[in-house]
Amino acid sequence: MRRVLTAVAGAALLSLVAAGVAPALPAARAADPCAAWMDPQDTADHRADALVSAMTLDQELGMLTFSDPPWFAFYGTAGHVDGIAELCVPDLVLSDAGSGVAGLQVATTVFPSGVAQAATWDPATQRRLGRAIGAEAYAKGINVMLGPGMNIARTPYNGRNFEYLGEDPYLAASSATAFIRGIQDNPVLASAKHFAFNDQETDRMTVDVHVDERTRREIYLPPFEAAVKRGDVGSVMCSYNRVGGAYACENRRLLTGYLRHDWGFDGFVESDWGATHSTGPTAMAGMDLEMHASPVPQRYFSADNLRAALADGSLTRRRVDEMVRNVVRPMFEHGLFDHPVESGVAPYLSDVSTPHTALARRVAAESTVLLKNRDDLLPLEQDGGRTIAVIGWAANPVGATGSTSGGGSSHGSGIDRLVSPLEGIGSAALAHGDRVVYVEGSSTADARAAAVAADEVVVVATDGSTEGSDRSDLGLRPQVCVSVGCSATPSNQEAMIAAAAAANPRTVVVLDVGGPVRMPWLSDAGAVLVPWYGGLQHGNALADVLYGDAEPGGRLPQTFPRSEQQVRFDPAAYPGVDGQETYDEGLLVGYRGYDARGVRPLFPFGFGLGYTTFAFRDLTVRRAGAGADVSLTVRNTGRRPGAAVPQVYVSFPDSTGEPPKRLEGFETVRLAPGASRRVTIHLDRRSFAHWDHGWRIDPGSYGIAVGRSSRDLPLHVRVRMGA
Ligand code: BGC
Repeated sequence: MRRVLTAVAGAALLSLVAAGVAPALPAARAADPCAAWMDPQDTADHRADALVSAMTLDQELGMLTFSDPPWFAFYGTAGHVDGIAELCVPDLVLSDAGSGVAGLQVATTVFPSGVAQAATWDPATQRRLGRAIGAEAYAKGINVMLGPGMNIARTPYNGRNFEYLGEDPYLAASSATAFIRGIQDNPVLASAKHFAFNDQETDRMTVDVHVDERTRREIYLPPFEAAVKRGDVGSVMCSYNRVGGAYACENRRLLTGYLRHDWGFDGFVESDWGATHSTGPTAMAGMDLEMHASPVPQRYFSADNLRAALADGSLTRRRVDEMVRNVVRPMFEHGLFDHPVESGVAPYLSDVSTPHTALARRVAAESTVLLKNRDDLLPLEQDGGRTIAVIGWAANPVGATGSTSGGGSSHGSGIDRLVSPLEGIGSAALAHGDRVVYVEGSSTADARAAAVAADEVVVVATDGSTEGSDRSDLGLRPQVCVSVGCSATPSNQEAMIAAAAAANPRTVVVLDVGGPVRMPWLSDAGAVLVPWYGGLQHGNALADVLYGDAEPGGRLPQTFPRSEQQVRFDPAAYPGVDGQETYDEGLLVGYRGYDARGVRPLFPFGFGLGYTTFAFRDLTVRRAGAGADVSLTVRNTGRRPGAAVPQVYVSFPDSTGEPPKRLEGFETVRLAPGASRRVTIHLDRRSFAHWDHGWRIDPGSYGIAVGRSSRDLPLHVRVRMGA
């Protein structure tokens, strides 16, 4: 009541000031009901404490669940929490996600998907990308971006791997951290998702996963840990699945143990949309904010339910304060109070994408992986006069709506501004004096005939991965996806590629995919490019890469298997039996598993060609604190500028039980032809540690190997650590 009176008195005073009756500043300030928490110079902790202590219970409870209208009905966003005007609390407006402002938004930029971002191996680019996405969000009236997704690609069948950052915890952690920092360079919070062990879409709402502690700490948790400790992420989204019997959003070990106690998280945990299953137990386990995905949602954190939980003792008053504090603290820290968003029709309709078109195009080229390039087929000569056959449904403007962005909540809009491969190659060909002929490729006879008649062939195929279902195999399924579903298109793309590649050795195969696919036609293909889901500028970036105006700068963040046998699981390990699943491969995820089993993949983790060549030499390793500095000289030995990515892998003494090697450092080095640079990559203490009831370094000899991929490591030395 006191606060209401002050607010009314404040308003009255302001009108007196306006009427020229009252003295201006000091009196107005004294009456400002928000003064105790609205000083931007004050600390976030102090501001949060001051605000929470000024709130009524009703006001507090209103901040713990989403407001009406729910879900997409609020300006196409994933949901919102109403602010409290009299307390200067801004609206919290949440939207997907990792490849741009998605949901039902219009006129935003769709950037390459998460796996493509990880394929850049370039945190500086990832930060720039995050910053651009955060800026678009803010301009749209959104101040929480529901990304990045950072679940580890445990199996290539996971339908959402395209949103995530690959199979390696170190690479995923460094990508996630850079992206989060970029988003939060704006008054916008990022959200680390989906916490945790949400590594498949089959039974995603219910599957109960069992993962031993060491595997949790070493493989699946590091990206989240880095998001908290190095990214200072404002929010974390708990996932749909169960972990060791308890739903992730009701899992004290996850939400209070790892997050708060072990890593010191000081933001809020919001549920995935509909991942809440109780009131008191969920709140007491550590979830702070409930969100939902349904036009008719069920609320566990409604004021009535929270009051009932307080009354029956399953929720404490202290915990309510803590939950609200967790929500508002990162809002203070990252400027959400000082720069409140304005949602409305005008921002909803405004085109915020224009400043980022060039960035989207550049990132799409830098994330494209060149897997094969027989006799330097690429880049194409720029002298003109040739016929280029573009083959494939995925290349045309309709097909490209499904081949440039994955399905589900991260799917971006912007069909009107999408540059399909056909359009991108078409304009570049025109500029270079070449001619383009297009066939859809559903008839292999047409594909063959077009390939035979052309000088160069670009055949584009896709596999439409989507949230909500896993891939049944490593085949190519073309689909058109929107945010809430996909429709498959019957087409045998493997036959199309095989026909074109057999007919013309100058065939470039372009794979718009979310992860590894089988390649039975590989020996016939002249070149293979993987742009993943390349976003709105995919067609232009592809043309840049084909003509050599940009280098395909990507390296694989995920191993490409030689056969389905190499990635097969026992059903109890994936996709689970009777709702239970045990990660019995333990640490042997991705290349760790291939290495341990002595199996040769089709294309190894870290692999990617470019248009020039590099020499790595003079490796030295110097102990630096509890870690080491690894130095080498990188020289561009080719005739074109390009980027090298020296990768540092550590192998451990047998006593530790570690897999044969772990990625622990890398750097992207751009060099002109003939230029060289001495590069130093720092490995910290954690690079030499394994989990054994804590991070331990066993005294002994550690191998340091440096090279171009996990299977091409020409430089190595040994170093004694831990003594
Ligand atoms: C997805 C989340 C997404 C949320 C809001 C859920 O179904 O799992 O990744 O952020 O919806 O759209």
